[in-house]
Amino acid sequence: MKTMNYTLQTNNLLDTESDCICLPIFSDQSLCKSGQEINDACAQIITKAITRYDISGDAGKAFTLSIDNQNYSRIVLVGFGDSKKISTETLKKSVNALSSQIIDTNIKNLCIAFNDVSAELKHEQVIRETITTIEGGRYCFDQFKTKKSPESQLSEISFQCDASKKAVGDSSISLANAQVKGMNIAKDLGNLPGNICTPSYLAEQAQALADNSSNFSVKILEEADMEALNMGAFLSVSKGSTEPGKLIILEYKGGKKEDAPHILVGKGITFDTGGISLKPGASMDEMKYDMCGAASVMGTMSAIAELQPKLNIVSIIASAENMPAGNASKPGDIVTSASGITIEILNTDAEGRLVLCDALTYAEQYKPASVVDIATLTGACIVALGHCTSAVMGNNDSVVTELLDAGKQASDKAWQLPIWDDYQEQIDSPFADIQNIGGKGAGSITAACFLSRFTKEYPWAHLDIAGTAWVSGGKNKGATGRPVPLLLQYLLNKEVS
Ligand code: BES
Ligand code: MN
Ligand code: ZN
Repeated sequence: MKTMNYTLQTNNLLDTESDCICLPIFSDQSLCKSGQEINDACAQIITKAITRYDISGDAGKAFTLSIDNQNYSRIVLVGFGDSKKISTETLKKSVNALSSQIIDTNIKNLCIAFNDVSAELKHEQVIRETITTIEGGRYCFDQFKTKKSPESQLSEISFQCDASKKAVGDSSISLANAQVKGMNIAKDLGNLPGNICTPSYLAEQAQALADNSSNFSVKILEEADMEALNMGAFLSVSKGSTEPGKLIILEYKGGKKEDAPHILVGKGITFDTGGISLKPGASMDEMKYDMCGAASVMGTMSAIAELQPKLNIVSIIASAENMPAGNASKPGDIVTSASGITIEILNTDAEGRLVLCDALTYAEQYKPASVVDIATLTGACIVALGHCTSAVMGNNDSVVTELLDAGKQASDKAWQLPIWDDYQEQIDSPFADIQNIGGKGAGSITAACFLSRFTKEYPWAHLDIAGTAWVSGGKNKGATGRPVPLLLQYLLNKEVS
């Protein structure tokens, strides 16, 4: 896929040369300031067309007008709904409607005049969301198709911008570009099938990221290294597979030497069959997405590599394949984790927490400022929150709040579930210190309770992205690139505070 070039343009819209100008229209069929100016300069052509064709300004509607002007020949009127209630959700709808007008045309460049679309949404936010939405629509995973999708003609999009906002606008474009690149990496890794995206493949990708970026180093722990560290929980998952498990550590040093790092820990189960507690066959293919936590960590680290914030960040990816085999773990097996806590494995399909707990113990040595783990951990999370919202749980209110706020800012939303002590007894085991499942009820919470036993040494939160990391079934099936926007925003907020 060709990359789109996003720029700012600070000329008066009337003097702008472009194949096409995009203007907001609201549900009362009114225009914004720049729209009015063009309308007045072109003998009211826009307002006449609105009446003649009864053009709707509802969010999700868009209409293309042909116009005889020396500088441009088309105007797309993009519906934004009620001008007083414009949210990032409306903006996404509006931008998708705009994209649908442009697709399959010969438009090569486009000027978007959304600068005075809303008093509440800052222009830099509008730019970031617009780019993210356009690029979300352009993303296409066709590397295994012998016939590729045709390339669009469009290669340049400029945003009309007040000269006084040039600097914030430019940094918003850089942020959006880095975020989009990160999301596309997360999508590609997620969409790759399990026979290609193995733990070794993820390790190679991390190595390549470190090789091609400044301030990065990489460390790969092999199964033998993990044995030496007594990571019995991790190894109990990977041992049934012929693909060797890997603990993949990326270190980014953009801060002062002595600054405590922020750590991201990703679940990287490259295929989850359930193991001996085998999953049913229907939709089992979707368990190739069980490494989307790891993919979001890789995507976020790639954005960090682009943006080079003044922070120290470590990412740890716990990657294994969960397979049934003659030497696989069985229900009832007891293993000892790197922390010394013994675990009775009652269900081999609750494998995510087993690989994560040893990675979380490994994180202790960094004396981290915060640790966030990201995992497609429980089907119960989809029951609780569906596909729009990730779940957050943690042992520290400020980490939890910062994640919730970052999710809102980046329009990649999350919601907190409680991990009161009352739930902890659900993972008591008669034979070991704890068991790996919590019985009936509160499945996402008891999974987080399990992780909380390994995170007592630092401020920690857990993101369950089982519902948000991919779209299941249907023609839109595929990884979403979430929660890269949330994680990136969370980290960048650390730089200013
Ligand atoms: N990777 C799954 C969770 C999952 C299931 C994510 C469906 C997205 C869609 C995880 O490893 C798992 O199998 N969890 C079990 C836990 C149970 C055995 C306590 C689950 O959710 O059923
Ligand atoms: Mn599982
Ligand atoms: Zn899993």
